[in-house]
Amino acid sequence: MCGIVGYLGNGNAYDVLIKGLHRLEYRGYDSAGIALVAPGGKLNVFKAKGKVENLETICNDKDTDASVGIAHTRWATHGEPSDCNAHPHYSEDGNLALVHNGTIENYKLLKDALEEHGCKFHSETDTEVLVQLIEYIKINNKCSLLEAVREALHQVVGAYAIAVVEKNDPDTIIAARQSSPLVIGIGDDETFLASDASPFVEYTKDAVYLNDGEIAVIRRNEPLKVLNLENRESKIDVKTLEMSISQLEKGGYPSFMLKEIFEQPTTLRECIRGRVVENGQRVIISGVRDHKEKFLNAKRIVIVACGTSWHAALIGKYLIQEMCHIAVEVEYASEFRYSNPVLGKDDIVIALSQSGETADTIAAVKIARSMGAFVFGISNAVGSSIPRETDSGAYIHVGPEIGVASTKAFTGQVMVLTMIAMAIADLRGTLTADEIAGLGKVILKMPELVEHVLKLNDKIERLSLIYTYARNFLYLGRGYNYPVALEGALKLKEISYIHAEGYPAAEMKHGPIALIDAEMPSVIVAPRDHLYEKIVSNVQQVKARGGSIIAIVTEGDSVIRNIADHVLEVPEVPECLSPIITSIPLQLLSYYIAINKGKDVDMPRNLAKSVTVE
Ligand code: M6R
Repeated sequence: MCGIVGYLGNGNAYDVLIKGLHRLEYRGYDSAGIALVAPGGKLNVFKAKGKVENLETICNDKDTDASVGIAHTRWATHGEPSDCNAHPHYSEDGNLALVHNGTIENYKLLKDALEEHGCKFHSETDTEVLVQLIEYIKINNKCSLLEAVREALHQVVGAYAIAVVEKNDPDTIIAARQSSPLVIGIGDDETFLASDASPFVEYTKDAVYLNDGEIAVIRRNEPLKVLNLENRESKIDVKTLEMSISQLEKGGYPSFMLKEIFEQPTTLRECIRGRVVENGQRVIISGVRDHKEKFLNAKRIVIVACGTSWHAALIGKYLIQEMCHIAVEVEYASEFRYSNPVLGKDDIVIALSQSGETADTIAAVKIARSMGAFVFGISNAVGSSIPRETDSGAYIHVGPEIGVASTKAFTGQVMVLTMIAMAIADLRGTLTADEIAGLGKVILKMPELVEHVLKLNDKIERLSLIYTYARNFLYLGRGYNYPVALEGALKLKEISYIHAEGYPAAEMKHGPIALIDAEMPSVIVAPRDHLYEKIVSNVQQVKARGGSIIAIVTEGDSVIRNIADHVLEVPEVPECLSPIITSIPLQLLSYYIAINKGKDVDMPRNLAKSVTVE
């Protein structure tokens, strides 16, 4: 969480940085700030609580003339959101300014030591400790900024992506990373840095992703230099960005979330492209194909993920167990790492993460690799940490997801898991060629089917008006659609702030059924599948207790239609593909309820898109 951006070149740093902050706002938006190294040895630092637009307002009448600067958008960890706790933080003598994404775990120890030496602190943040430490080292060791940064980083424990500028040096930015993402953009006579490439994609397509423990030295009129903490120079590996600006804009939609919901036919097409081939008869996942032996011999698969990705992982369990007959465990990455996991060389660990930067998932990857398991990463963000730290993997290829509430990434993840399960089943002979071809044909039609589901939009918008003021919701589903119920409930909670619980429909009678009354609507995901008769009974049980019901059913359903208060009909697909279809009405329902309540769906309170803290 938190986004950092930096610029050094001949252009207007303020404009580049503010635009960059808007692009990174999905990473945190409780305060923002900017430090500009102005001509004549001035360091102008401006900060504001709230979104980036507040920062722009306060900068309106300020001197923002500079060609080098750094900026930050914050998701608070240490210290409440306030002007004072906002980054950039500066050293006591005002000589240095620093922005930071991550957490300094030993900040208290360092702060106490610095205070003993007379340092005064003004904020409650861990970050201020780092900038004071750098300045302290620089003065006491009479060394350069680069040397002081390197020495300070030897002393800190924690995660960081940082950028530092110095008042008297408008020609240098020093940046570094450890467990938080940082990418450098190399343009013509200008260099950018950012938490992801979105702030500079319109200026350059050449990007260098820093590795953990690396320091970037950005100097005017000099090529980029990357060193490690031992001062050894690293080889610079320039990647070409595939991202386009249109992917970063709303494209006529009122929000990124709605755009991303409606993009799903296209994103699914991208996700499938080149993987389901020969008219659906073959599935190729190169990350599986290139490690055949591992998948042939695997005794167990463990999927680690968080949030929405964890829900997709649960669907992955149903998919892999059904198609490949391999035991699958699904773990919250945050719990997995502290559960004394037992793993060995016959285990495959799949790390599932849209951003590829979730701290808990990265930690799980590191543990799994240290224990000898084969680790397969599934991510959306090209060049992010998880794809770089795993043995093999697959991208979901749905393009940047900017809305904090995950939508197109969820369907992309489920689609990739489906294709992976089919590829493994093909290798192990647990699905026949006909079965693969049968599913493959439907997969090729999924984008069209999703387009068809999206036609429910207007109906769902009207329906949302009836339920906007409900205080609690229950989401129920079974089998493949139990994780869909969990995901539907999460979507509603995170953007409308309505309490919602997702439950396996049959578990309802073991507790949650006590909650049901006329005030508590239930959303029941009940397509026609092998558990249909069972879920019909669950629908009856809710009705018998006076609860109102919105049911997601297969087109032509006549049984639930007569019991539920409202039905949303979706096309029939094989059971294992149904989550991709049934999740879409739930995305739209939560979207419209949140909009009716006047909520900011793209930037819900307290959340950030990329959770890079533990
Ligand atoms: O980037 P990741 O997939 O690792 O993120 C995991 C969760 O933080 C994420 O899915 C979160 O739950 C979303 N806001 C849900 O919409």
